[in-house]
This record gives sequence, C-alpha cells and structure tokens, in this order.
Amino acid sequence: MAFRASLGRAAVTAAARRPAGLAVARFYSQTSAAAAAAAAAAAVPNPDPTEDSPSGKLVRAHAPFMVATYSRPPPVFVKGEGSYLYDLDNRKYLDFTAGIAVNSLGHCDAETTRVLAEQAGTLVHASNLYYNPWTGTLSKLLVDKTKESGGMWDAAASFICNSGSEANEAGIKFARKAAKVADPSGAKHEIVSFKNAFHGRTMGSLSATPNPKYQAPFAPMVPGFRVGELNNVEALPELVTEATCSVIVEPIQGEGGVRVATDEFLLALARRCREVGAVLHYDEIQCGLSRTGGFWAHSRLPREAHPDILTTAKALGNGFPIGAVIVNAKVAGKIKVGDHGTTFGGNPLACRVAVSVVERLADAGLQSAVKAKEQTFRQGFERLRQRFPELVSEVRGKGLILGLQLTEDPAKIVTAARERGLLVITAGENTLRFVPSLVMSEDEIREGLAILEAAVEATRA
Ligand SMILES: Cc1ncc(COP(=O)(O)O)c(C=O)c1O
Repeated sequence: MAFRASLGRAAVTAAARRPAGLAVARFYSQTSAAAAAAAAAAAVPNPDPTEDSPSGKLVRAHAPFMVATYSRPPPVFVKGEGSYLYDLDNRKYLDFTAGIAVNSLGHCDAETTRVLAEQAGTLVHASNLYYNPWTGTLSKLLVDKTKESGGMWDAAASFICNSGSEANEAGIKFARKAAKVADPSGAKHEIVSFKNAFHGRTMGSLSATPNPKYQAPFAPMVPGFRVGELNNVEALPELVTEATCSVIVEPIQGEGGVRVATDEFLLALARRCREVGAVLHYDEIQCGLSRTGGFWAHSRLPREAHPDILTTAKALGNGFPIGAVIVNAKVAGKIKVGDHGTTFGGNPLACRVAVSVVERLADAGLQSAVKAKEQTFRQGFERLRQRFPELVSEVRGKGLILGLQLTEDPAKIVTAARERGLLVITAGENTLRFVPSLVMSEDEIREGLAILEAAVEATRA
C-alpha cells in the first residue's frame, strides 16, 4: 500500500503503520487472527518503513505540500549507485525500474556525473537566442548514430527539448505545420494514434494517448485526433486517409503494457502514410536508445518502414531531463524560424550530458549484452510461468523492455518484492514491466529474479 499524499498529514496506510522485523510479531500477537500474517511479515527482509521511521516522518511533513498526482510507496530514496537505490532508513533495493526506463547507464554513473559537474562549472544556460557548442553537437550526433544504426535513413536534423511529452508535442506541431505548408486549406490535419498508446501528458501528446483515465478529467482534447488498433493492418486504409497529417506510434508500447508492433504492421503503416502523404512519427521515448538491443527499436526494419519524425527522451540524459525530435529534410524544410521554441530545451548542460550518454548507449557491445540479458530474464520468466501457470499468461517485449502478463492485479507482488529488496513497476492491465538499467549485471538480474519468485510465492499464501 502507498502513502497517499491526497489523504493529508495523518495519512498512513495499514501497511505503513505496521512495525518492522521482529517487533511485528508482538504487534500482531494482540490479535490471534493475525498470527499467520505476523509470522510472514516478520520474515520480510526489507519491510516498508513505518510511520515512525525517518522516511515516515519525512513523508508526513512533505506530502501535504505536494500536489497529489502520484500515489507512492513508503520508502524515501536518498541515494543511487549502479543497479541499487538506498532509502532514508538505509535499506537497499535492486532496481528493475531504472526510473521508468531512464537510468540506462545505472544510477549516478560516474562518467555522467563527471561530465555533468564539468559542464555545470563551465556553462549551464545562455538561451536559444545564441549558439553554444553542445546543442549542435547533440543534434548531429543523434542524426549520425541513427543512420549508423540502420535506423531512419534520411534523418537530417534534431530539435532538443526537455521531456518526452515536449518532444511529442513538437513532433505533432511539426507534422501539422508540414501538412499546412503542403495544403494551406488545413484539411490535412488529422493525427492518428493507437489504443494503449502513451505519448505524454501535455494537451497535444495527451490527445494522442487514448486512455480515458488520463484524458477524461481534461476533456475536451485537441481536435483532429483519431484512434486505431495496433497491429490491425486491414483497418489502415480507413484509418489513415487523405485527411491524415501524421501517425504517431510506439514500436513497442511501454505504459500500455509492453505491446510490440509487428514488423508487418509497421511496414503497412509506413506504406499507407506514404500513399496519403502523411508523416510517420515513431515515439521511441521508452523503447529507444538501445533498450531493445538495437540503437532504435526500428533500426532493424527496412527503409520503407522508417519514420519521418522520431522522438526520444527518458534515457537520453540518464536522469538529467532532456528530450529530442529527429526529423528528415522533408519535415525540417517546412519549419521556419519562430514556429516553435523553448527556453530551457537544448541548454549546454543537458546536451553535454546527452552527448556522453548517446555515445555510450550506441556501443555495439552494450547492445549485444542487452540481448543476452533479455535471455536471462526470459529464463527466469519461464521458470515463474512453470511454477505459477495460473498466474503468468504471457511474456512480451524485446531486449530490456519486457512485460510479464499476469492474470491478476500485480500490486501485491510489487509490494512483496519491495519488502524483499526489489523494485518493479507495472504497466497496462495486470502487466509487470521490466525496464532495468542496460548495464545491470547478469548476477544482479538473477538476484532480482530470485527475489521476484519469492515475492510471487509469498502472495500465493
Ligand atoms: C512512449 C512514451 N512517450 C512519451 C512519454 C512522456 O514522456 P515524459 O514523461 O518525459 O513527458 C512517455 C513516458 O512514459 C513514454 O513512455
């Protein structure tokens, strides 16, 4: 259970109130009905911090002042190192989440920290009104590494911003502008996205995120958005029409439950986009930057299936906020001075960090290690599936963006894993999502899988 900021100062859950370790036995012994639970909780090696712990006290002091947009579990993280996070109560957690597919080089990676500190002492920000050495270096590096990887063959230029939502927002605007230049009537303005997609929380990117949970509180959405079914090739002629200016798609849907777009679908989609003169926009914010074992998830696809717009963020700064849009000349040529802008986007500090991160994530050795690590995960998942066939129904994903489809809500397993020292997150409907750092060792992966198995076992009681 989570500390819920929305419940205010005294808000603690039953789980958070529970005393840790051996003390828990005394606590629960007051009620004979809870004797079994007491024994189980006493055996948990990493119990969630209690209300009276330093973490509990800090949360109570801070939560009322934080707009309650998230429901968080009790630990307060104060330090990260490689594959591990440490909380205020000095508990250690193996991290299968990497800050939601962000810390691909691990927490507090030494080289990233060095570069960050060096640039912080040189030039942090001077605004987009002037040139600096790093915005252009990163813009070119993204284009070069994309082409070298076999991805987006006609990548030409980049726009640097601060987040994934902003990158998609820029991509949506660029597509609308490109269509308006081609057809000034404005008739070509529709944007197509797919069920279970997640493209962000700003109004444009949210309008392409057809999840009622996210959209309903903020309706109406931006006009002109249509929704299709991922991997439904037959529906494409009706879905993508002369009125379509852009189709935005994640080659692997992350938040939506780790759902992989088939090659056949992406090829057919690209073909249809070309037929009607629509821009194809791949959102690789979660699945890109070597997470699948290729630099981009689409890098292995033939040219015909390459995008006109490619968005990235998350791992781009290994935790430092940054996003980017890569476009071909067809799109770049239609964008004029003043069409779009950002105060912070492309500042030398973020770009210097991203240059270092991209150079390292583009490494072929790292990419083949990702593929080997995928197999280690899959072996662990297969073991789980065999032990708990009624629970594990499917394994999806590629490289180190993997989903374990369960037949029940994974919340209890997530808590049981955390209380055994492992952080995992969910996605979509009853999916456990695995997006660890790409440099996590095979031993750490095996250690995490063993904890996961113990957590699942504990929740079967
Ligand atoms: C595929 C995808 N696109 C866009 C976003 C939005 O990125 P951000 O949260 O940086 O705005 C996310 C975030 O989870 C994502 O996974």
